[in-house]
Amino acid sequence: MALPAEGDALFPAPPSLARGAHVPSLAAYRERYRRSLEEPQEFWGDIAKEFYWRTQPSGSFLKYNFDVTKGPIFIEWMKGATTNICYNLLDRNVNEKKLGDKIAFYWEGNEPGDSTVISYSELLHQVCQFANVLRAQGVKKGDRVSIYMPMIVELVVAMLACARIGALHSIVFAGFSAESLCERILDSNCSLLITADAFYRGDKLINLKQIADEALQKCRDKDAPLRTCIVVKHLGREALVSGGRCGKSPPLKRLCQDVPTPWDAGVDRWWHELVKDASKECEPEWCDAEDELFVLYTSGSTGKPKGVVHTVGGYMIFTAATFKYVFDHHPEDVYWCTADIGWITGHSYLTYGPLANGATSVLFEGLPIYPDVSRMWSIVDKYQVTKFYTAPTAIRLLMKFGDEPVKKHSRKSLKVLGTVGEPINPEAWLWYYRVVGEERCPIVDTFWQTETGGHVLTPLPAATPMKPGSATFPFFGVVPAILDECGEELEGEAEGYLVFKQPWPGIMRTVYGNHERFETTYFKKFPGYYVTGDGCKRDKDGYYWITGRIDDMLNVSGHLLSTAEVESALVGHASVAEAAVVSHPHPVKGECLYCFVTLRDGHEFTKALRDELRNQVREKIGPIATPDYIQHAPGLPKTRSGKIMRRILRQIAKNDRELGDTSTVADPAVISQLFQQRCEAAE
Ligand code: WT7
Repeated sequence: MALPAEGDALFPAPPSLARGAHVPSLAAYRERYRRSLEEPQEFWGDIAKEFYWRTQPSGSFLKYNFDVTKGPIFIEWMKGATTNICYNLLDRNVNEKKLGDKIAFYWEGNEPGDSTVISYSELLHQVCQFANVLRAQGVKKGDRVSIYMPMIVELVVAMLACARIGALHSIVFAGFSAESLCERILDSNCSLLITADAFYRGDKLINLKQIADEALQKCRDKDAPLRTCIVVKHLGREALVSGGRCGKSPPLKRLCQDVPTPWDAGVDRWWHELVKDASKECEPEWCDAEDELFVLYTSGSTGKPKGVVHTVGGYMIFTAATFKYVFDHHPEDVYWCTADIGWITGHSYLTYGPLANGATSVLFEGLPIYPDVSRMWSIVDKYQVTKFYTAPTAIRLLMKFGDEPVKKHSRKSLKVLGTVGEPINPEAWLWYYRVVGEERCPIVDTFWQTETGGHVLTPLPAATPMKPGSATFPFFGVVPAILDECGEELEGEAEGYLVFKQPWPGIMRTVYGNHERFETTYFKKFPGYYVTGDGCKRDKDGYYWITGRIDDMLNVSGHLLSTAEVESALVGHASVAEAAVVSHPHPVKGECLYCFVTLRDGHEFTKALRDELRNQVREKIGPIATPDYIQHAPGLPKTRSGKIMRRILRQIAKNDRELGDTSTVADPAVISQLFQQRCEAAE
């Protein structure tokens, strides 16, 4: 790795942070990086030693095959060792580290003024009680439990209770539709669903139980009945306890409302009734390091979501180590990750990584601009947040409102800022750095994926000189390479496919129920490498820059969607014959959906139809996939063999007539027609 050349536009790591930092300099990073590659067993073994193992890791620490031409792909870290991740996150911190009274989470509700705290020992008790409930409901090691919940403490309790008894949680983001939830329940054959009555997102009431019921009905229609649905009384919580949360002022008062919750006495159980008499002690299930910990669905380019599977031991040590080093975590920190637990960021860096380090975190139920655009910074001040982790889309959104809403709060507590989810444009990076962090806080631009389990390319805050928009260098144990179209590794300054040459402990192990899809998606294109699907550039100083997806995926507000998934939702409508969806630049979301639809004979393209199509996509996938543009396309540009030429559609969407080579378009007349009928504005 080349040293940054002198005089380069680098933002040095702030010297004040180096004192007491886990990795205080670039030289220290390099030394440790070298060791992680030369002595992986010792390097990861030292990290593993900080945890409790029922049976110590021994024998071969890592076994793997990354080469499809040599046999099945597999990755095994510390196989044969046994442990329990929940025990390590809670019991070990409470009993061994004496952190029982330390705050695990400051819960901040959607409404300012609605908040609670939960300590490590209280969290342990609640997790044990709920783990006992799950066992009493017949949930066993290896079973899958679907979780569809808002950002409340019970969500963390539910996931850790699963981990405690060796059941796999499959968390579905509460913004996904009934259809998406049903599809995910069926794919991994979940036997139990955990949800909540309802919650507010900003001033919008979401009756979650009702959506969950629709999903369960769809499951029944497909002959896959799920036995039990456990429901947290969240909005109606006030009816259960006296005083506190409800409040007299109008916004808090509405939290008292007991939303009518649809109920099926044969299936539904109230969480509070089940835990009432459950014991606060619960023997953990001792699991092999390679036992499955959870499934989390991510979009796949075929349109069918993939159940990404992570395992106990490797995921534990990797999320713990990345959290410690990337946020330079110290015991007195207050850490806040704004991601929803329904995404991998919330799994790795709101739950597993922070709790493994005995950290104190903020768990925020609400939205960045509700009730006003300075909510984030008022929370930073309220809890004296030191480390703050968010997404470029949130930064761009807040940037729109100028500096004043930020500056009216102190933010003096902040030390490190982080970003994740998509490439951050230098303009947003600089605003985050100058306005939010007052040029005092380094920004860790962390590149990773649901599949990687944790950070793979990232700066370390006290060590790495930053370049706005670059995820900089690999984390310990991670070996990136850039390949050309033929699969040749490119040296020095280069641009091409980003791949990884060897496994790190947190890499996914399989696609749930479909190992072949795992092999095809990530290992087939370039045998011997894990293929990320991202394009990447390495500059003369060895810095890595992610250039975006190179497959049919698009990144809306930091979350991947596949164009195929949206197309199939559109074609599901009776009047649509064919649909093609492309990614289109969006000032806040990064990318958005621009859809071209061809209608069946006899159907007319009206505003009403456009609304129906938009709703259809929301219903099938969820609000995150709501198309910004839907254009009528009497014909689509295709090759002679019938392949839709998306690169041309992307140019049409942008009204850019630089079309490149159009000699292979079967019917060039459709192109000018589509240009004429472009949608000028999003609706
Ligand atoms: C894709 C993974 C990992 C948690 C959030 C998204 C893009 C992610 C960065 C970054 C540039 C980034 C990539 C990646 N991405 N972080 N720092 N710079 N691009 O998880 O939904 O699995 O998406 O997000 O395209 O492949 P995900």
